[in-house]
Amino acid sequence: MMSVRSANREDGPVKVSGAAAYAADHHPDGLAYGYLLTSTVARGTLLAMDTAAAERAPGVIAVYTPFNPLDVRPFLKEGGAELAAPLQDTRIRYHGQAVGLVVAETFEQARDAAALVTARYDADRPRASFADGLAGAEPPATGAPAQEVLADGVASIDEALAASDVTITATYTTPAETHVAMEPHATVASWTGGRLTIHTATQGVRLAVERLSEALAMDPADIRVINPYVGGGFGNKWATWAHTPLTAAAARVLGRPVKTVLTREQVFTVVGHRPLTSQTVSLGASADGTLVAVRNDGVSSRSASNSFYEAVADLSLSMYDAPNLHASRKVVTLDVPVTTIMRAPSESNGSFALESAMDELADALGMDPLDLRRKNDSSRHPVSGLPWSSKHLDECYTLGAERFGWSRRGRVPGAVADGDWLVGMGMGTATFGAFRSEASINVRLRDDGRVVVSGTAADLGTGQSTVFAILAADVLGIPVERVIPDLGDSATPPAVSAGGSGSTSGNGPAVRLAAQAARDALVKLAAEHEKSPFHGQEVTYAGGEVGDGGRAMPFGELLALLGLPDLDATATSPRNASQSHAFRSFGAHFCEVRVNRWTGEPRVTRWLSVVDAGTIVNAKAARSQIVGGVVMGIGQALLEDLRIEPGTGRFGNATMADYLVPVNADIPPIEVEFLNYPDTLLSDLGARGIGELSIVGAAGAVANAVHNATGRRVRDLPITLDKLL
Ligand code: MOS
Repeated sequence: MMSVRSANREDGPVKVSGAAAYAADHHPDGLAYGYLLTSTVARGTLLAMDTAAAERAPGVIAVYTPFNPLDVRPFLKEGGAELAAPLQDTRIRYHGQAVGLVVAETFEQARDAAALVTARYDADRPRASFADGLAGAEPPATGAPAQEVLADGVASIDEALAASDVTITATYTTPAETHVAMEPHATVASWTGGRLTIHTATQGVRLAVERLSEALAMDPADIRVINPYVGGGFGNKWATWAHTPLTAAAARVLGRPVKTVLTREQVFTVVGHRPLTSQTVSLGASADGTLVAVRNDGVSSRSASNSFYEAVADLSLSMYDAPNLHASRKVVTLDVPVTTIMRAPSESNGSFALESAMDELADALGMDPLDLRRKNDSSRHPVSGLPWSSKHLDECYTLGAERFGWSRRGRVPGAVADGDWLVGMGMGTATFGAFRSEASINVRLRDDGRVVVSGTAADLGTGQSTVFAILAADVLGIPVERVIPDLGDSATPPAVSAGGSGSTSGNGPAVRLAAQAARDALVKLAAEHEKSPFHGQEVTYAGGEVGDGGRAMPFGELLALLGLPDLDATATSPRNASQSHAFRSFGAHFCEVRVNRWTGEPRVTRWLSVVDAGTIVNAKAARSQIVGGVVMGIGQALLEDLRIEPGTGRFGNATMADYLVPVNADIPPIEVEFLNYPDTLLSDLGARGIGELSIVGAAGAVANAVHNATGRRVRDLPITLDKLL
């Protein structure tokens, strides 16, 4: 293990003091305000909309509907996004769909006018029940319907299961969830001539440029998206949602800037949610606990308005060693808002089922569940057979068990009590894919001695901007405080957007390359510039200074002396093209849960996560990432449940008062340990991802602890007290 730097977030002070300007905080001159109109039925056709009263209302500038549309082309080609362009047809695909935009002089005028618009629908009964749809689940339109690996001589996965000494089969279900990022979605659009400038809440300014160029039929070079601060994303700011192109199109037609901020309730429907899932898992093992067969048949809900679903069974193919593996995918189509990515899409729900099933198998074998996992730890990817680039999961297990006191776990469920509380321990394995995407970064040395590091990355609150500062400061040998991270501007070099836990692993190597290139350019300048005091000398660089062995001069002074305001270099780090190894992050969660004997109330009371995610660049922010994911995992386990009303297809709890997420009182002290082994096969930096890894295995750990405390195996999330009575 190497020592790890622990730095405060460079953006912390501006964020907590309110000085950080989020998308909605921009007020260009002449600003008008947009307010979305949304459908009040879930499926059918809009027959007519009466906008006359709204158009006469004070301050109203325009009312756009499918009967008076803005020009927006289809722009979202990928899964996780809505396929139809807003206002371009009269079909209603879900309750809360954008069906209009009112633009007025103030937000309140736009909102009040929106309340005056009436709509007539030809409404059908929506498909709103996932449970009812399960029997008719179909293979997905995209992606393989199933993947299977069988040992030589084995004819089918069922044959392998039948030949196992011990088997368990169980079905696990998870509800819809929504991201509830603190910052609601907002877009401010301004036009100057034919050029568009947009401030919009997004996980990637490059992504927004691409989609807006399609939506508005524009050259991407004429669009600039600026969004340095993001108040959380978790996947819901990856896609570009209806309000963004509508706001830009309205600003174009009206010839003045327009801002649209979604209300909290609109965020629930205009923006996508995590699908519901069901997994039927069968595990077969020999009597000593060696896995023989793993089968997971996964079903995900999918919105009628897009193609995204969770390939929820797939995690079962990359976790434990077994000679026979089978994972399938099916979807149930519902007339609900868009299904999209949310923190560890597929893996998070997948791990709840697999980690619960592993404990059920351990019970059937009479084995300690940690021993079962250890016995079936994989040294190679179970499907591809490629060796892992760097895997220290066993150390996570060992260190975690020792630190958490796993040996004190009751062997028999319900055996440990503390007054009115039944006490249990559980654990779950975490894993998530590791990536290194192509990234370009610019590093600019300035004559004031400061350094600007630029690229189109996003900091959703993760600490990415501080990672930029730390890595550049290390290469340049200067204090972190002298580095100014410049993220979230599409005019800067194309870096990795914030998704798939790939920011630090992709952008980090590029920051280091660019800092090195800037340093090289400085040395060259010092030796070659005629006015340089080091002209013609052998120049070296150390600690922010150039020198020739005798004299040394800070780079800022040299630039000032030469009359140069700055000197910069851009470098590109390529994507990982390794065919020889498989790359994933790993970890182990350990938790203690107390369940009230009389009320069934479950409380998580202790937590430890041990994380094997390669090099940790900033221990403090990395810890926060893990803690955040664990908190979200506890929410997934005990609270989160986005309810779809069966008759109406409406989300019944689309407010932050009704959609429950953990508050401080629900969360125990969370301990995090990083192993910090650099993954040098992934990059010279050796950093893998941590943002999504943190939630994988967390809900399973809670479910397992609940079982250990009570003997109750709850297989449908969330684990609410009524299920424990
Ligand atoms: Mo994340 S679900 O990769 O935005």
